[in-house]
Amino acid sequence: MTLRQIYDDHLFPRLVDLTLADRVVGSWRRTACAGLSGDVVEFGFGSGRNLPHYPDAVRSVAAVEPSDTAWDQAGRRIDEFEGRGGRVRRVSLDAARLDLPDESADAIVSTWTLCSIPDLRSALGEARRVLRPGGRFRYVEHSLAPDASVAQWQRRLQPAWGRLAGGCHLDRDIPALLIDAGFRLSATEERYISGVPGSQVVGWFVTGTATPRGERFSGAGQGEHDAEGGAAAAAR
Ligand SMILES: C[S@@+](CC[C@H](N)C(=O)[O-])C[C@H]1O[C@@H](n2cnc3c(N)ncnc32)[C@H](O)[C@@H]1O
Repeated sequence: MTLRQIYDDHLFPRLVDLTLADRVVGSWRRTACAGLSGDVVEFGFGSGRNLPHYPDAVRSVAAVEPSDTAWDQAGRRIDEFEGRGGRVRRVSLDAARLDLPDESADAIVSTWTLCSIPDLRSALGEARRVLRPGGRFRYVEHSLAPDASVAQWQRRLQPAWGRLAGGCHLDRDIPALLIDAGFRLSATEERYISGVPGSQVVGWFVTGTATPRGERFSGAGQGEHDAEGGAAAAAR
């Protein structure tokens, strides 16, 4: 095994588990999982850190996760979730190819994952395919920043960052990509997570609910609104 493989396959998934711990991003996870029910597909399941945040009404989680290390780390959280009556199974290694029937999911959840999926266009197509009518795609992601100077740094750092961070892209405009893939966005929030200088390149967080366009939105959250005319659309 090469050093590269040791880093990518063993060390990096553990770093992700530490840096995305609840004390840092727990409130964003709670927002992403709030009010969900039924059958959820989770893109980039990682070490299962969203599981404690799912309401009891979520009966199954179909995990999409390529990393065996991350999957192994999820063991205790899976046991706890299943102890609450839910079920978790690993259904695919790549969100671009889901071995799931059409219209079989009530919700898709993606937290800090759309940045890393190599074939994101296909993954978002799969998301549309497996969502039931009225289903919701909940996302929390980091994204291309709206400030030109930060965005410039994100593009400059991308080649090195991608190699260090499991193929993660700093320079993806996630809201714009969701809209391009045929979703409308609601209940959106976009902001830097901290004022620490330098952290902005990874700290422009975007969250919201994406629903396939052409469907009547049936979200339950307060303050849901159509964000297509907002900052994301303007950034395209
Ligand atoms: C930054 S981590 C986030 C993990 C988890 N969602 C969380 O919130 O803690 C990104 C995750 O996406 C996974 N990933 C990478 N490529 C993927 C793909 N093609 N399909 C699904 N997940 C992928 C990685 O293995 C990793 O677990």
